[in-house]
Amino acid sequence: MQNPQPERSVMTLVTTGIFAPSHAGLLAAAGVLARGGMVAFPTETVYGLGVDARDSDAVARLYAAKGRPSFNPLIVHVASIDAAEQFVDFDDTARALAQAFWPGALTLVLPLRADAGISPLVTAGLDTLAVRVPDHPVAHRLMEAFGGPVAAPSANPSGQVSPTKFVHVRDQMTGLIDAIVDGGDCGVGLESTIVATRPIPTLLRAGGLPAEAIEAALGDELALAGETAAPSSPGQLASHYAPKGTVRLNATNIETGETLLGFGAVDAAVNLSPNGDLTEAAATLFDALHQLNALNATRIAVSPIPDHGLGRAINDRLRRAAAPR
Ligand code: TXA
Ligand code: MG
Repeated sequence: MQNPQPERSVMTLVTTGIFAPSHAGLLAAAGVLARGGMVAFPTETVYGLGVDARDSDAVARLYAAKGRPSFNPLIVHVASIDAAEQFVDFDDTARALAQAFWPGALTLVLPLRADAGISPLVTAGLDTLAVRVPDHPVAHRLMEAFGGPVAAPSANPSGQVSPTKFVHVRDQMTGLIDAIVDGGDCGVGLESTIVATRPIPTLLRAGGLPAEAIEAALGDELALAGETAAPSSPGQLASHYAPKGTVRLNATNIETGETLLGFGAVDAAVNLSPNGDLTEAAATLFDALHQLNALNATRIAVSPIPDHGLGRAINDRLRRAAAPR
């Protein structure tokens, strides 16, 4: 398997084990985490690349394997609200949101507890920590078997397309990480929605849980990052999710040399949802970008996508895919 990013070719290649999501496979994967190793595993949103969040050496290797800027902090994954309480302080709003949406595609940014024992590399020096409880049986069983906090970014080289299938991880990360748990496809297909609750509930990243659902639970609108004193999400880099080709958004025609990424009833090389279903489009988006890479599409035109519900997160990812690199 070739090394996907040349600047990381100086790294020593490791043998990447592939584990079935069986009892034995998950015990083996938990053992790799306990020894400070890196394990990719499925969640309902995207595949994560996990390490023990208390182990700075492991977190440093993770940043290196992804080629990730170290000012970009990580989400810590735990098995339950109780487990999360060990690491962060919940206010009433946070507790209500956790009870309403965990396990699920919601990440809460909350004050880090002084006694949390989380590596400062995970928070990139911030005094808050991003936490979530994933809604996936394999992720859940892995965390139960490991028994500690798992720091996990998406399991792709930094800046590239996030993985929603085992093969995406295998093709991008083999030789760079210790193990992959093959748990099939991710159902939601977009990363979690990130919310800070202080000083007021603020949307830091649109994601797999529609903002409207959170606003309904709060009975109030979410503020947008930058509008309040809530911390911004340092990882919201303009260029991200980049396929190999250039990307033109809101395309209502196809120009010569372009490949269409369609939505709805259009004649497209790859279609996110021929029926115009946003849930299906979310689940398909990253695989569609991987498919366009496999087709060697050099100029990608993308159909307009409605900007509500999951469409908001889809458009956010597409804008980053289209941003100058
Ligand atoms: O669905 C997901 O969230 C996936 C799966 C694996 O759980 N993970 C994921 O991680 O998308 P990653 O590393 O690709 O994105 C983490 C985001 C970044 O934008 C980062 O800046 C933000 O979370 N973040 C982490 N800690 C933060 C903090 N303390 N304050 C604000 N933003 C934070
Ligand atoms: Mg990511």
